[in-house]
Amino acid sequence: MNKRLMVSMLGLAATTMLVSGTAFAVWMTEGGERDEALHLKPDHENGIEVYEVCAACHLTEGWGSKDGTFPQISGQHQSVLVKQLADIREGNRDNPTMYPFAKPESIGGSQAMADVTHYIAKLPMNPDNGKGEWEEGTPDFEKGKKLYEDNCVKCHGDHGEGMADKYYPKIQGQHYKYMVRQFEWIRDGKRRNANPEMVEQIKRFSHDDALHVINYVSRIPVPKEDLAPSKEWLNPDYD
Ligand code: HEC
Ligand code: HEC
Repeated sequence: MNKRLMVSMLGLAATTMLVSGTAFAVWMTEGGERDEALHLKPDHENGIEVYEVCAACHLTEGWGSKDGTFPQISGQHQSVLVKQLADIREGNRDNPTMYPFAKPESIGGSQAMADVTHYIAKLPMNPDNGKGEWEEGTPDFEKGKKLYEDNCVKCHGDHGEGMADKYYPKIQGQHYKYMVRQFEWIRDGKRRNANPEMVEQIKRFSHDDALHVINYVSRIPVPKEDLAPSKEWLNPDYD
């Protein structure tokens, strides 16, 4: 057998084993449109133009919906937005509603991705995100806080601020119901792009634990400078 062919077949077998062994798609692939989009100089005006189609669901403010149908995306790290958008384009997240709008045919290639993600990352966040039911000071709140401190801080930070350079999302200020759904999808392998280390960390979380830890996250205060002045704020770029 041709040596080159054999090497590539072995490579293929190894990849298949890896994928079926973990049941997840590769969390991060280097290169491609992710890297390109993060290194291109963003064009602000084109960002506004591309974002218009996204606003149909995420709203012109990027605030999504409290009931968790649509996530808040404003203020998210640009690196995270690029990664998630690329993953959605590649079919690694079950997102049939958004998929057709995210395709290169609809919005363009890596330059459009750079423009739109740079624009979204700079939008001020919703000062009134959807929260869980347990208020600060209650035993249920404290239970969630403890779970957060023991299991989440090393990646999402002390205040849910995430880590831009590692593609760890900001989760402070996100809607409660959206996060509960994503958290359990990540735990159960339904979100195929999920970080394998996070899956390992949370695999023993019951539904009740999930509700408690996310209740806490939904109540972490967002720094004032990242928030819009009020929940009535309207994005002036779409007057
Ligand atoms: C038809 C509705 C719709 C449109 C249009 C849409 N999205 Fe989404 N988007 C969603 C939904 C629903 C989700 C959450 C999917 C899930 O639950 O996994 C989402 C998730 C996302 C996420 C992941 C957020 C996170 O916290 O992980 C990003 C980033 C995103 N959208 C960006 C965009 C951009 C940029 C556009 C425009 C090019 C866009 N979306 C257009 C519905 C839409
Ligand atoms: C090893 C690092 C790591 C740990 C530990 C971790 N996460 Fe994550 N988390 C991530 C990464 C990376 C993502 C994005 C995954 C992807 O690429 O889709 C994520 C995604 C999420 C999301 C979805 C965010 C979104 O916008 O869609 C939520 C909610 C979340 N994590 C909550 C938690 C909570 C709560 C804990 C602790 C119980 C935790 N995570 C522990 C790395 C981690």
